[in-house]
Amino acid sequence: MAVGTVLVAGGTGYIGSFTALALLQNDYEVVIIDNLYNSSKVALDRIELICGKRPAFYQVDVTDEPALDEVFAKHPEIDSVIHFAALKAIGESGDIPLEYYKVNVGGSISLLRSMSRHNVANIVFSSSATVYGDATRFPDMIPIPETCPIEATNTYGRTKVMIETVITDHINAERRKAQQADKPYEQWNAALLRYFNPCGAHPSGIMGEDPQGVPYNLLPLLGKVATGEREKLMVYGDDYASRDGTAIRDYIHVLDLAEGHLAALNYLREHKPGVRAWNLGSGRGSTVFEMIKAFSKVVGHDLPYEVVGRRQGDVLDLTANPALANKELGWRTKLTLEDACADLWRWVENNPKGYRQDPPAKLLEALKAGKA
Ligand SMILES: NC(=O)c1ccc[n+]([C@@H]2O[C@H](COP(=O)([O-])OP(=O)(O)OC[C@H]3O[C@@H](n4cnc5c(N)ncnc54)[C@H](O)[C@@H]3O)[C@@H](O)[C@H]2O)c1
Repeated sequence: MAVGTVLVAGGTGYIGSFTALALLQNDYEVVIIDNLYNSSKVALDRIELICGKRPAFYQVDVTDEPALDEVFAKHPEIDSVIHFAALKAIGESGDIPLEYYKVNVGGSISLLRSMSRHNVANIVFSSSATVYGDATRFPDMIPIPETCPIEATNTYGRTKVMIETVITDHINAERRKAQQADKPYEQWNAALLRYFNPCGAHPSGIMGEDPQGVPYNLLPLLGKVATGEREKLMVYGDDYASRDGTAIRDYIHVLDLAEGHLAALNYLREHKPGVRAWNLGSGRGSTVFEMIKAFSKVVGHDLPYEVVGRRQGDVLDLTANPALANKELGWRTKLTLEDACADLWRWVENNPKGYRQDPPAKLLEALKAGKA
């Protein structure tokens, strides 16, 4: 019997698909909605190949409230939502802010309104370390705790701050109104998960990040340099106050991140805490040059790069203090940066066309034989 049914918004995307897989592997039923703006339905096939179960899928835009209503009406068993559906390119967000506010903030409001109409009261939200902005503006704020004041430095980050606020106000209002009416209120809960830098792929080599356009995250870009699809990696700034001049980030394997969602969802269901924010990171910071070195090692040769100017809105150091999630959720990262690099390379090397090609037979055989 299923332990619960979760609507995963943005569930064919990178982190969403891995979270859907983790949910299915832990006896949850999964209903995915996604408009496929930055993902492909093939992710559903890969989930099924790995765990033997297939999520229900609806091609729905998260800003389309009537369409969301239809999905909730069709699946009255849905008791929680994990919300990934968003636009996420920091640079682009500065050029088309209205689109970002419409999809990210507007979409979240539509989702919450539709959830409320269907008595779905738990939400786990994909926030980001970007909400903290430049934490080095304070002394002793690296690694960053959840108590670090919020001050995003770009439009994308500001959409995340706004959504956190909208969710907090909504959950608190529902709790207060129910309490005043002498009705149960504890079912209203939200987890605001501030992720640091998700990376890596499934160790089987058949599931990974496959953005529709040009990737902009460091590791997928390095993957494209390694396959020769891109000539070199652009390093945005080597004049930061770090050990080698490049920016520091906390890289977290996507399998660990997916487990973090599961832990947060279980915590909401069990402890009914109201609104809680947790950092999901490893606590270990790596510079861009260290990442190039680690990935080059896995690939077996040095990867070319060129240092260019800093990117607007970038900050020196985003390293998590994950102590709260370690303690309250009983969750911590298990996989290393080296695991992420090895898994990413297995995915990229074997699937240069991502989900636009069949997975190699040898990987499927290894998966079937339980060796992956
Ligand atoms: N990858 C990161 O580095 C990172 C870091 C912190 C937070 N996040 C957040 O995590 C979430 C998932 O990120 P990801 O890396 O998996 O990105 P992704 O682009 O792979 O996943 C987002 C999914 O949302 C879908 N989507 C976009 N607009 C939609 C709309 N209007 N209606 C329905 N679906 C829509 C896309 O098609 C995609 O499948 C996002 O909210 C992102 O902001 C990502």
